[in-house]
Amino acid sequence: MSGDTSAVCLPDRYTRNVVETRDPHAELVADFRAGMLEAPRSLPPKYFYDDRGSQLFDAICDTPEYYPTRLERELLEANVEAIARRAGAATLVELGSGTSRKTETLLAAMLRAHAAVHYVANDVCEEVLDESAQRLLERFPRLTVDALCGDYTAALAALAAVDREPATPHLYAFLGSSLGNFEDAEAIAVLRAIRSAMHAQDRLLLGLDRVKPVAALERAYNDAAGVTAAFNLNLLAVLNRELGANFDPAQFEHRAPFVSEGSRIEMHLVARAPQVVEVSEPAVTLEIGAGEVIRTEISRKFDDAAIDLLLGGAGLRREQEWSAGESWYSLLLLRPDTD
Ligand code: SAH
Ligand code: TRP
Repeated sequence: MSGDTSAVCLPDRYTRNVVETRDPHAELVADFRAGMLEAPRSLPPKYFYDDRGSQLFDAICDTPEYYPTRLERELLEANVEAIARRAGAATLVELGSGTSRKTETLLAAMLRAHAAVHYVANDVCEEVLDESAQRLLERFPRLTVDALCGDYTAALAALAAVDREPATPHLYAFLGSSLGNFEDAEAIAVLRAIRSAMHAQDRLLLGLDRVKPVAALERAYNDAAGVTAAFNLNLLAVLNRELGANFDPAQFEHRAPFVSEGSRIEMHLVARAPQVVEVSEPAVTLEIGAGEVIRTEISRKFDDAAIDLLLGGAGLRREQEWSAGESWYSLLLLRPDTD
């Protein structure tokens, strides 16, 4: 893989590669056109994560209401030796790695088993990649890090194109229930892309949020301190900056209801009053009615049947599964289905 290697005062154990082949600005313009010009309005979730969005997401993970991070960390800490042993990998490839805080547990276990470990971190947010790599490299002297900046699909295409040494198993990780931010077709496409980058001996560690009482779900996405609200509203600041729009965040309210058809939390920005929003690129005027909803994200809550459908569609099968509490959250270790 080639690309621009970051010059910002990082050790020589770090490279950052831009794997995105599409023009990110053109893509946002196209996604805005496709989703925002008529009701029901919606946008893909990856645009939340500018520098401020990544910081706010990190703060969401520390709120007492947001159980997924805590449960996933507990599951990782309790089972990391088994995961590392089964995977037998000295290379970890993570999609949507964010701050890589939970990943440290996994890297530490891999470093106990191997003289050197290689971490390939993918995210759309380059600031979070640089900052996390810096922290990891300071903590782990025997670690090297390659950051792949771009969409999951761009990172997986880049990885699939690399010639690999045989007999060097890779462990893939896709945590935080980020898969739940996609409808079935897209979720299967992402898993299939992971599956095609995988060799027979590779494993995928997938973190998925599960069905549970509605009150706990709605609390997790409506924290009392308002961090999730700030995160959701930050999307409007991204649109204002990137598209020259004049959304007034004060005119929108954060809501995150559980929608039982589809078994998902939906993230909404609800217009408090009728309003007109001007956008420079694309050059459009939006007339938004009072109470109108912009759907900014879905976060699916899985039962076994929904998981089986995705795995079956992607050609992956369960090797082992760990669940927390009363099955509130699961970590699945998956292997490629060979036929
Ligand atoms: N894995 C971390 C972060 C989850 S938040 C955790 O479990 O806590 C989702 C992360 O994925 C963010 O860091 C965001 O920038 C990144 N992301 C979102 N959409 C993406 C996409 N389409 N391709 C690559 N990264 C994406
Ligand atoms: N993958 C996370 C989830 O679905 C992302 C997330 C958590 C999120 N809280 C959010 C996205 C609030 C948008 C708004 O749980």
